[in-house]
Amino acid sequence: MTDTPPAAPATHLAQRVAALTDAEKAELLTGQGMWRSHAIGRLGIPALLMTDGAYGVRYSISQIDGQQQGGQDLDQFLAVVNTRARDMKAAFGNTKPATCYPNGSAIACSWDVATAYQLGASLAAECRAFDVNILLGPGINIRRTPLGGRGYEYYAEDPVLTGDFAAAVVEGLQDHGVGASLKHFACNNSEIERTTMDSRVSPRALREIYLLGFERVVRKARPWTVMSSYNRLNGMQTAQDPWLLTELLRGEWGFDGVVVSDWHGIKDRPAALAAGNDLDMPQNASRQRALAEAIADGSLPAEVVNQACARMLALVDKAKAAAGPVVPFDAAEHHAHARAMAAASIVLLRNEGGLLPLQPAALRRILVVGDGAVNPVIQGSGSATTLPTARDIPLDEIARQAGAGVIVQHLPGHGDTPEETAARTAEAAKAAEGADAVLVFVTTDAAEDGEGADRRTLALARGHDALIEALAAASGKVVVVLANPDAVVMPWAGKVAAIVETFFAGQAMGGALADILFGAVNPSGKLTVSFPARIEDTPAYLSYPGEAGVHEYAEGIFVGYRYYDKRAIAPLFPFGFGLSYTSFAYSDLEVATPALAEGEDLRIAFTLANTGPVAGAEVAQLYLGFPESRVQRPLRELKGFAKRMLAPGETTRVELAVPARDLCFFDAEAGRWRLEEGAIAIELGASSRDIRLAGAARAQPARPHYPPLAIDSQPTKVLANPVARAHFERFLAEKLGLSPDQAARMLAYTRSSFFGIHTTLNYFFRQDLPRAEIAAIIAAINAETAA
Ligand code: BGC
Repeated sequence: MTDTPPAAPATHLAQRVAALTDAEKAELLTGQGMWRSHAIGRLGIPALLMTDGAYGVRYSISQIDGQQQGGQDLDQFLAVVNTRARDMKAAFGNTKPATCYPNGSAIACSWDVATAYQLGASLAAECRAFDVNILLGPGINIRRTPLGGRGYEYYAEDPVLTGDFAAAVVEGLQDHGVGASLKHFACNNSEIERTTMDSRVSPRALREIYLLGFERVVRKARPWTVMSSYNRLNGMQTAQDPWLLTELLRGEWGFDGVVVSDWHGIKDRPAALAAGNDLDMPQNASRQRALAEAIADGSLPAEVVNQACARMLALVDKAKAAAGPVVPFDAAEHHAHARAMAAASIVLLRNEGGLLPLQPAALRRILVVGDGAVNPVIQGSGSATTLPTARDIPLDEIARQAGAGVIVQHLPGHGDTPEETAARTAEAAKAAEGADAVLVFVTTDAAEDGEGADRRTLALARGHDALIEALAAASGKVVVVLANPDAVVMPWAGKVAAIVETFFAGQAMGGALADILFGAVNPSGKLTVSFPARIEDTPAYLSYPGEAGVHEYAEGIFVGYRYYDKRAIAPLFPFGFGLSYTSFAYSDLEVATPALAEGEDLRIAFTLANTGPVAGAEVAQLYLGFPESRVQRPLRELKGFAKRMLAPGETTRVELAVPARDLCFFDAEAGRWRLEEGAIAIELGASSRDIRLAGAARAQPARPHYPPLAIDSQPTKVLANPVARAHFERFLAEKLGLSPDQAARMLAYTRSSFFGIHTTLNYFFRQDLPRAEIAAIIAAINAETAA
């Protein structure tokens, strides 16, 4: 591991910034070509090389080695995003082969931060082999709706899982000399009108759901760069939002790296720089000119420009110091890593009658149906698409693990015309009769697998549902193998023996799948999103995709399982769900901290045992709820998790700690996180709908919270605040000539009024108390309460 070198001293940086001319400053803050930062030869400042993507390195030979003016050349750029990954050769022939690891929506199902770290480390090794300094990932937007076109790149519908998984990816990258670019900041949750749409998000949903993952990564893993997003957020283009990029990201979270724009995402360059978007990518002559002019004419304050330059120089220093020599990577070894990662991520959703794992000794004939068995769907389309170094063919891997004694027969199950498909479906159904296992490979429409557009349906590709139905009618031994970007609906779910979800599992999917099917690896992946029974049940259904240029996030904080739980809607498969070939028992929950205040940790421990016949790993999930809260809160929220590998009969004690800050809600009125006094419901589950242990604790903030008062605050709100009570009692005693005790009783008597305190006092006590006098008391109370 390489340690991150210490940042250059500020004065030294300031001197180097001072040596730059205005034109050089504009260059330094603008890309050179498509993938490099600008070198300033006169001062010996080298360029940095950055490239996509989050699950595999996409090194475009013509754009990087050919020094094409890619930044000027929008065609080249759009060609990649707009080409489907399944036309790999045509689209990516000009790319250096690199390992295609499981995509975000697949690998996060491992729920394993060690796997995440390994992904980062492996990607760093491949970046270094190509002399790449910054990898443009990970992408961590919340999967608000399963229709989102980039869902395959992202990790989860939950911010804690997203943040903790991504932090480990970033650490894996940066510990090995390559910077991360945490993206897309923020609320780019749909591809519909992706560069103009305004995501309208409430303060609580913003903080508690959409920003929380970013915040966790920034605080924990200190990414070298953050990428601003294409969209607007609450009316403001994110690349030009000073609140988002400066006040929050740097001021509140302590981010000290460089903010990079998304490619051609900046619309007003000087405004973006002023907001804190340091680097404009890729090169673009008109934006660079606008910046140079704003620097020269002083409309951009010099300190803002200099600070951005200093951040760029610090990044260049850091990246160059960490880079080390260019060493080729071992493709075979990385393929093996990709296989282990995929196997740790595949989710077994159904296994009726224990059909899986397949036992070769008990099998005579396996029927394999579908193109996916010979032409596997391993990744989504878009800027993240990778040209793999190799590709496991599932049919070959299945035949290998089945062994010579088993007949493995393959049929396509579909044709080019509807008539042909009907004939092929009938042929497959006929062959399914008498087979000992029927493995059917299905997927979603190739046109709906990635960037640039959202999905229009949660259904499988045309004909695939019918194929499964026909096979299930002919055989009780159908195993459905799914390859899809995000949740799909499964009208046939109850009719098949087994369902294996691979998502887009990367180039070693075939081998990993065979490992799972034959039990060489015991499945341990669990879903990181809820699978709805139907599209109408999804949280964003009524407001997605938005209209009139606005994505209204009307479901607020109730995203994913938070919504299904609150509405008591049964999902097809819940968040956190996944089966194993063994069983686990949870027992002896101990809550070490029955009461907790700000700054403390909620600490719990429990015992986890493997009670089944084979070794296996379990993902145990800690959920907390706040049943006494005065604000709307989810029934349960993921606050921690642990994955443990256990031999049959083995038992382990698992300890988890949750900082009090993670129990807070975001108090929009006060603009801060708040720990609320009250009960904490503690649940440990094998999924969000399979709670095995329950306990309780109490949150006890050191000081109770009283919301600010106004002249029209109701007496109940006034009476709840002891400072306010004292003020008004004194006031009444003086005005009405009462004893302290009488004044207290008179004030208490106003409790039933639903009018504001000013109106109430006048009306109850037949007074004409001046508004200004009451306003002054309220101001004094608020000042004293806040202090
Ligand atoms: C994507 C980014 C990507 C960039 C460079 C953009 O269109 O949104 O995720 O890193 O292109 O390819």
